[in-house]
Amino acid sequence: MEVRKIHDKEFELFIPNARINVAISDMAASISRDLEGKDVIFMGILNGAFMFAAELIKQITPNCQITFLKLASYAGTSSTGTVKRLIGINEDIKNKTVVILEDIVDTGITLESIIKQLNGYEPVEIRVATLLHKPDAYLKDIPLDYVGFEIPNDFVVGYGLDYEGFGRNLADIYKVVDP
Ligand code: IMP
Repeated sequence: MEVRKIHDKEFELFIPNARINVAISDMAASISRDLEGKDVIFMGILNGAFMFAAELIKQITPNCQITFLKLASYAGTSSTGTVKRLIGINEDIKNKTVVILEDIVDTGITLESIIKQLNGYEPVEIRVATLLHKPDAYLKDIPLDYVGFEIPNDFVVGYGLDYEGFGRNLADIYKVVDP
Protein backbone atom coordinates (compact mmCIF):
# COMPACT_ATOMS: atom_id res chain seq x y z
CA MET A 1 0.00 0.00 0.00
CA GLU A 2 1.41 3.36 -1.02
CA VAL A 3 1.32 5.75 1.94
CA ARG A 4 2.36 9.41 2.03
CA LYS A 5 2.80 11.60 5.08
CA ILE A 6 1.66 15.23 4.95
CA HIS A 7 2.15 17.19 8.16
CA ASP A 8 0.75 14.97 10.93
CA LYS A 9 -1.43 12.71 8.78
CA GLU A 10 -0.87 9.62 6.67
CA PHE A 11 -2.65 9.19 3.34
CA GLU A 12 -3.09 6.02 1.30
CA LEU A 13 -3.53 5.71 -2.45
CA PHE A 14 -7.24 5.93 -3.29
CA ILE A 15 -7.82 6.84 -6.97
CA PRO A 16 -4.84 6.34 -9.29
CA ASN A 17 -4.16 8.86 -12.04
CA ALA A 18 -5.17 6.47 -14.82
CA ARG A 19 -8.70 6.18 -13.39
CA ILE A 20 -8.93 9.94 -12.94
CA ASN A 21 -8.01 10.44 -16.59
CA VAL A 22 -10.69 8.00 -17.77
CA ALA A 23 -13.35 9.73 -15.65
CA ILE A 24 -12.35 13.16 -16.97
CA SER A 25 -12.35 11.95 -20.60
CA ASP A 26 -15.85 10.50 -20.14
CA MET A 27 -17.02 13.76 -18.57
CA ALA A 28 -15.48 15.86 -21.36
CA ALA A 29 -17.29 13.75 -23.95
CA SER A 30 -20.65 14.24 -22.15
CA ILE A 31 -20.13 17.97 -21.74
CA SER A 32 -19.03 18.40 -25.36
CA ARG A 33 -22.12 16.54 -26.55
CA ASP A 34 -24.53 18.42 -24.25
CA LEU A 35 -23.18 21.90 -24.89
CA GLU A 36 -22.61 21.79 -28.65
CA GLY A 37 -24.01 24.97 -30.19
CA LYS A 38 -24.25 26.87 -26.88
CA ASP A 39 -22.27 29.95 -25.88
CA VAL A 40 -20.26 28.35 -23.05
CA ILE A 41 -17.85 29.71 -20.48
CA PHE A 42 -16.09 27.34 -18.06
CA MET A 43 -15.26 28.76 -14.65
CA GLY A 44 -12.63 26.87 -12.69
CA ILE A 45 -12.64 27.53 -8.94
CA LEU A 46 -9.13 28.09 -7.61
CA ASN A 47 -7.03 26.73 -6.13
CA GLY A 48 -8.29 23.17 -6.05
CA ALA A 49 -9.76 22.85 -9.56
CA PHE A 50 -6.68 23.92 -11.55
CA MET A 51 -5.53 20.40 -12.46
CA PHE A 52 -9.00 19.03 -13.17
CA ALA A 53 -9.85 22.09 -15.28
CA ALA A 54 -6.66 21.83 -17.34
CA GLU A 55 -7.19 18.15 -18.10
CA LEU A 56 -10.91 18.56 -18.86
CA ILE A 57 -10.83 21.68 -20.98
CA LYS A 58 -8.31 20.35 -23.49
CA GLN A 59 -10.77 17.56 -24.30
CA ILE A 60 -13.77 19.85 -24.84
CA THR A 61 -14.49 20.01 -28.55
CA PRO A 62 -16.98 22.91 -29.13
CA ASN A 63 -15.66 26.48 -29.09
CA CYS A 64 -15.72 27.82 -25.54
CA GLN A 65 -14.16 30.26 -23.09
CA ILE A 66 -12.43 29.44 -19.82
CA THR A 67 -11.65 31.59 -16.82
CA PHE A 68 -10.72 31.02 -13.19
CA LEU A 69 -12.35 32.44 -10.09
CA LYS A 70 -11.24 32.52 -6.52
CA LEU A 71 -13.15 32.75 -3.27
CA ALA A 72 -11.91 35.42 -0.90
CA SER A 73 -13.18 35.68 2.65
CA TYR A 74 -15.27 38.73 3.45
CA ALA A 75 -14.03 40.81 6.34
CA GLY A 76 -17.39 40.33 8.04
CA THR A 77 -19.21 37.15 8.91
CA SER A 78 -22.78 36.03 8.57
CA SER A 79 -24.83 33.79 10.82
CA THR A 80 -23.68 30.83 8.78
CA GLY A 81 -20.00 31.58 9.29
CA THR A 82 -17.53 33.32 7.01
CA VAL A 83 -19.08 34.40 3.73
CA LYS A 84 -16.77 34.07 0.74
CA ARG A 85 -16.83 36.57 -2.08
CA LEU A 86 -16.15 35.39 -5.60
CA ILE A 87 -13.36 37.37 -7.26
CA GLY A 88 -12.09 37.45 -10.82
CA ILE A 89 -15.27 37.75 -12.90
CA ASN A 90 -13.92 39.87 -15.75
CA GLU A 91 -15.80 38.17 -18.56
CA ASP A 92 -19.32 39.12 -19.58
CA ILE A 93 -21.34 36.04 -18.67
CA LYS A 94 -24.78 37.51 -19.39
CA ASN A 95 -26.79 35.12 -21.59
CA LYS A 96 -24.03 32.49 -21.56
CA THR A 97 -24.03 28.91 -20.30
CA VAL A 98 -21.71 28.80 -17.32
CA VAL A 99 -20.07 25.52 -16.32
CA ILE A 100 -18.59 25.68 -12.83
CA LEU A 101 -15.54 23.41 -12.46
CA GLU A 102 -14.99 22.27 -8.87
CA ASP A 103 -12.45 19.86 -7.43
CA ILE A 104 -14.87 18.58 -4.79
CA VAL A 105 -18.41 19.20 -3.59
CA ASP A 106 -18.62 18.25 0.06
CA THR A 107 -21.43 19.97 2.04
CA GLY A 108 -22.30 22.10 -1.00
CA ILE A 109 -22.16 25.33 1.02
CA THR A 110 -19.37 26.73 -1.19
CA LEU A 111 -21.16 25.75 -4.38
CA GLU A 112 -24.42 27.35 -3.27
CA SER A 113 -22.61 30.59 -2.52
CA ILE A 114 -20.84 30.55 -5.93
CA ILE A 115 -24.12 29.97 -7.79
CA LYS A 116 -25.91 32.75 -5.88
CA GLN A 117 -23.17 35.20 -6.81
CA LEU A 118 -22.97 34.12 -10.47
CA ASN A 119 -26.76 34.37 -10.86
CA GLY A 120 -26.41 38.12 -10.33
CA TYR A 121 -24.62 38.32 -13.69
CA GLU A 122 -27.64 36.83 -15.51
CA PRO A 123 -26.18 33.76 -17.23
CA VAL A 124 -28.72 31.79 -19.27
CA GLU A 125 -27.96 28.65 -17.20
CA ILE A 126 -25.39 27.37 -14.72
CA ARG A 127 -24.15 23.80 -14.79
CA VAL A 128 -21.84 22.13 -12.31
CA ALA A 129 -18.97 19.74 -13.07
CA THR A 130 -17.05 18.35 -10.14
CA LEU A 131 -14.28 15.79 -10.06
CA LEU A 132 -15.30 14.47 -6.63
CA HIS A 133 -18.52 14.46 -4.62
CA LYS A 134 -19.25 13.27 -1.08
CA PRO A 135 -22.99 12.45 -1.20
CA ASP A 136 -23.12 11.57 2.52
CA ALA A 137 -21.94 15.07 3.44
CA TYR A 138 -24.10 16.96 0.92
CA LEU A 139 -26.59 19.34 2.53
CA LYS A 140 -28.02 21.03 -0.57
CA ASP A 141 -30.37 20.05 -3.36
CA ILE A 142 -28.51 21.75 -6.20
CA PRO A 143 -28.19 19.17 -8.97
CA LEU A 144 -24.63 18.22 -9.90
CA ASP A 145 -24.65 17.81 -13.68
CA TYR A 146 -21.29 16.06 -14.08
CA VAL A 147 -19.57 14.07 -11.31
CA GLY A 148 -16.27 12.21 -11.77
CA PHE A 149 -16.38 10.09 -8.61
CA GLU A 150 -18.79 9.78 -5.69
CA ILE A 151 -16.62 9.08 -2.66
CA PRO A 152 -17.21 8.29 1.04
CA ASN A 153 -17.02 11.03 3.62
CA ASP A 154 -13.21 10.75 4.04
CA PHE A 155 -10.66 13.53 3.69
CA VAL A 156 -8.71 13.30 0.43
CA VAL A 157 -5.70 15.04 -1.12
CA GLY A 158 -3.99 15.13 -4.50
CA TYR A 159 -4.89 16.17 -8.04
CA GLY A 160 -5.34 19.77 -6.89
CA LEU A 161 -6.78 19.07 -3.44
CA ASP A 162 -4.70 20.00 -0.42
CA TYR A 163 -4.22 19.33 3.24
CA GLU A 164 -3.10 22.61 4.83
CA GLY A 165 -1.56 23.76 1.56
CA PHE A 166 0.27 20.56 0.63
CA GLY A 167 -0.60 17.64 -1.62
CA ARG A 168 -2.02 19.57 -4.59
CA ASN A 169 0.85 18.41 -6.83
CA LEU A 170 0.12 14.71 -6.47
CA ALA A 171 -1.07 13.04 -9.69
CA ASP A 172 -3.12 10.43 -7.78
CA ILE A 173 -5.80 10.99 -5.13
CA TYR A 174 -5.05 9.78 -1.61
CA LYS A 175 -7.35 9.39 1.38
CA VAL A 176 -6.51 9.87 5.01
CA VAL A 177 -5.63 6.82 7.09
CA ASP A 178 -7.20 6.70 10.56
CA PRO A 179 -8.36 10.34 10.69
P1 IMP B 1 -18.10 22.38 0.78
O1 IMP B 1 -18.25 21.70 2.10
O2 IMP B 1 -18.82 21.64 -0.32
O3 IMP B 1 -18.48 23.82 0.85
O4 IMP B 1 -16.55 22.30 0.42
C1 IMP B 1 -15.72 23.35 0.75
C2 IMP B 1 -14.31 23.13 0.32
O5 IMP B 1 -13.71 22.28 1.28
C3 IMP B 1 -14.03 22.47 -1.02
O6 IMP B 1 -14.10 23.33 -2.12
C4 IMP B 1 -12.60 22.01 -0.77
O7 IMP B 1 -11.70 23.07 -0.99
C5 IMP B 1 -12.63 21.65 0.69
N1 IMP B 1 -12.74 20.21 0.90
C6 IMP B 1 -13.84 19.49 1.20
N2 IMP B 1 -13.55 18.19 1.35
C7 IMP B 1 -12.22 18.08 1.12
C8 IMP B 1 -11.30 16.98 1.12
O8 IMP B 1 -11.63 15.81 1.34
N3 IMP B 1 -10.00 17.29 0.84
C9 IMP B 1 -9.58 18.54 0.57
N4 IMP B 1 -10.39 19.60 0.57
C10 IMP B 1 -11.71 19.37 0.83
